[in-house]
Amino acid sequence: MSVEPVDPIARSLELVVERAGDPAPQIYARLFAEFPETEARFCRDVSGAIRAEMLTMVFDCLMDPGGPYQANLVRAERVNHDGFGTPNEVFDRFFWIVLETCRELLGVDWTPTFEAAWTARIEGVEYATQ
Ligand code: HEM
Repeated sequence: MSVEPVDPIARSLELVVERAGDPAPQIYARLFAEFPETEARFCRDVSGAIRAEMLTMVFDCLMDPGGPYQANLVRAERVNHDGFGTPNEVFDRFFWIVLETCRELLGVDWTPTFEAAWTARIEGVEYATQ
């Protein structure tokens, strides 16, 4: 019987949810601490649905970076975001803010395998969508 290898990104996210529930509030708190000017831009997002959609796209990209739509979608969002005042370097920082939050939430359970997988995927997505 063969055992499916578990994707380290998916495994780390499962652990985050098990330990801390939805990480979105901590991720956005970290974003707003680093870039306070971005908070007001979410004023339309009363229910949190836009923030959830944005985070879902980031998770999808990291779990399936070779998916047929991922790179095009991120390229399109890059251009949209630049249009409403989020330049490329800030846009790119969001992936790292997600990593840093998940690492903090997992504490000692964050492994070198998780770190290596996240770093490689983020660099890959950013490289493919410049
Ligand atoms: C620090 C970086 C980022 C900031 C400040 C930011 C900001 C925002 C804001 C303010 C909105 C809501 C716009 C509205 O009212 O319609 C939004 C929506 C969205 N963002 Fe981001 N964003 C960032 C990074 C990203 C990244 C890295 C992705 C995906 C890879 C992404 C994907 C999306 C998507 C899918 C939406 C919802 C659909 C849309 O309005 O285009 N964002 N973002």
